[in-house]
Amino acid sequence: MSPPPHLTEGLCGRSRPDHFQGVATIVLKLLNLVHPNRAYFGRKDAQQLAIVQQLVADFNLDTVIVPCPILREPSGLALSSRNQYLSPEQKQQATALFKGLTNAQTLFQSGIRDRDSLLKEIHTTLTQDPNIQLDYADLVDPHTLEPLTQIDREGLVAIAAYVGTTRLIDNILLDGRKPILAIDGPAGAGKSTVTRRCAAALGLLYLDTGAMYRAMTWLVLQSGIALEDEVAIADLVSQAQIELKPGDTLTDPLQVKVNGQEITQAIRSREVTAQVSAVSAQNAVRAVLGKQQQAYGQKGGVAAEGRDIGTHVFPEAGLKIFLTATPAERARRRFAELADPSGLTLEQLAQDIAERDRKDSQRAIAPLRKASDAIEVLTDGLSVDEVVEKLCISITNDAQTLSSRCRMQRRIVLPIHAKRTLGVLNR
Ligand code: DC
Repeated sequence: MSPPPHLTEGLCGRSRPDHFQGVATIVLKLLNLVHPNRAYFGRKDAQQLAIVQQLVADFNLDTVIVPCPILREPSGLALSSRNQYLSPEQKQQATALFKGLTNAQTLFQSGIRDRDSLLKEIHTTLTQDPNIQLDYADLVDPHTLEPLTQIDREGLVAIAAYVGTTRLIDNILLDGRKPILAIDGPAGAGKSTVTRRCAAALGLLYLDTGAMYRAMTWLVLQSGIALEDEVAIADLVSQAQIELKPGDTLTDPLQVKVNGQEITQAIRSREVTAQVSAVSAQNAVRAVLGKQQQAYGQKGGVAAEGRDIGTHVFPEAGLKIFLTATPAERARRRFAELADPSGLTLEQLAQDIAERDRKDSQRAIAPLRKASDAIEVLTDGLSVDEVVEKLCISITNDAQTLSSRCRMQRRIVLPIHAKRTLGVLNR
């Protein structure tokens, strides 16, 4: 088992040859033995994280790798088992690593994007203290670890330095992309309207991932392929072309085409709605559509809604909302929206929704879940307009924060701030 050299040979690989080969082998063995749904890796070992993520992709492992933020002492020193080797004085000196990184971050936030300026800042900070010996400071792509001459999207500034005889590492992720807003929740919670209007208010691209799963379901039903024939469905889906085009106004429906055919209305039929959970539970369908959704998010600037956006598609989204309402309320809303109930009663609709919720949240792959860092918003008793208005105001106020703060801070600052604002919603 041999990860690509661009991942293992740079950064710490220069002074620790073969180390990452060993890490990759051990992690692969462990994941193969345990088959966990999720495995958590800290961001402090950014090189290890990138290697493990590549490993999971290369070997098609089912485990989701969850990156965890760097935990720090109040001084900024990143927590590490190695800190036990530092004297109290050395611990104080070691805070220069974080200081160097935050100085570089401040430069970045002021618009400086080039390698030389960012790394010079680190060198200047770290060479001020003769007790610190810099091993390396580098600016790399956080996924490929290849050196960057400037940050177009995101960059990882990584450093290693000796404090006495103890070698410490630390890093910071600098993200120049526009934000990603993830809105998940069960059927009928009002996600589409809310996400669409928030996207318009923030100048983000609106991505209705449910429409993509519906389009694939329509295609499967049209083709006559049995729902159990996962191989044929995988083939069909991998060759299908989906086109999503926003309506002319915020109330016009999103235009959906598949393989050139207009299916905007057809994907909302009762037949498609009844089968969409079965199709969207299939591994190949999720893999193909998940990749397409991530491609939309590559440059950021996306407001996406669905069931697994915050948990799987964009686990790094700047802001995650879990929009929900009681089942009775959701059924009432959906029933009121029906232009032509065609004999469908409120009770039947409630049963349909409950059944879809059950399937979507109990499937093996990417089930409907509230991400651990999502803000839950219960919308019972509120009109969609009220939710949109309050959520949009809160997010618009945060838009600046969203795009300018580093991810590490976003995780902490945004949810607390947004929770405070959203508290108003629940009064
Ligand atoms: O949001 P919607 O009702 O249009 O979604 C239709 C179905 O698509 C939903 O019941 C499950 C599936 N879906 C999914 O599995 N993952 C998503 N991210 C979005 C939708």
